[in-house]
Amino acid sequence: MYKIPATTLFIGKKLVFVPECHSTNTLALEMTETSSVPEGTVVIADHQTAGRGQRGNSWETAPASNLTLSIVLRPKALNVKDQFILNVFTSLAIHDLLMDKLDATINIKWPNDIIVNDKKACGILIENQIQGQQVSQSVVGIGLNVNQSLFSTNLATSMALIGGTHFDREVVLNDLFSCFEARYLQWREGRSNSLTDAYLKNLYWKDEPHTFASEGVEFTGTIRGIGAFGKLIVQTANDDRSYDIKEIKYVR
Ligand code: BTN
Repeated sequence: MYKIPATTLFIGKKLVFVPECHSTNTLALEMTETSSVPEGTVVIADHQTAGRGQRGNSWETAPASNLTLSIVLRPKALNVKDQFILNVFTSLAIHDLLMDKLDATINIKWPNDIIVNDKKACGILIENQIQGQQVSQSVVGIGLNVNQSLFSTNLATSMALIGGTHFDREVVLNDLFSCFEARYLQWREGRSNSLTDAYLKNLYWKDEPHTFASEGVEFTGTIRGIGAFGKLIVQTANDDRSYDIKEIKYVR
């Protein structure tokens, strides 16, 4: 259904489209176990019956309305302790894409949600395989809400709802590949610092006091940045604290 992109060097050059699957991340992982899959291979489905999200949640989207895909990467010389950079360049790629398509406020909610006008438009699930101290393979799953107009929660949105128009998914996909490859190459060229700067510049709620919850207790704090291993640094009246993904919730 989708064409091979003409504008990229390796992202999407092998494109596996399935009308339906359980989860493109799972299918991509299965493919890498049973066949030789070049870096940049993309698995894309029109409908996932068991789409997976972060923290063990499910990812549900209307069939044939959005983009649900997984990209296989084999990052060279990526130490396990630096793996958060995968979140950084993937989020920035989607941020770049949406900045180009929409006239809206677009932020990255740590670690990798893409927030448009305060609602989530894209979720990312990155699953890594580790060999020794290195990330040997990464499956980057992206669920981008393109044309869906109804959601079961008022915390979600889509490109069409924000832009007030229908988007051609093939065009969006091709542009996503270009944005993704550009940010991935930026990392491969050793420019992690400029990636991290751009990520922090667009970080949702950064430098604004907000209410968070940890271990069921609400507190006021201000996001100040990202620490070792990609932990979120939140300043409170008493101290600076750092949190892993399962340890903190954004409240208001
Ligand atoms: C999140 O919880 O925000 C992450 C959602 C990630 C969804 C995408 S859709 C394509 C890929 N396949 C999956 O099963 N999940 C990811």
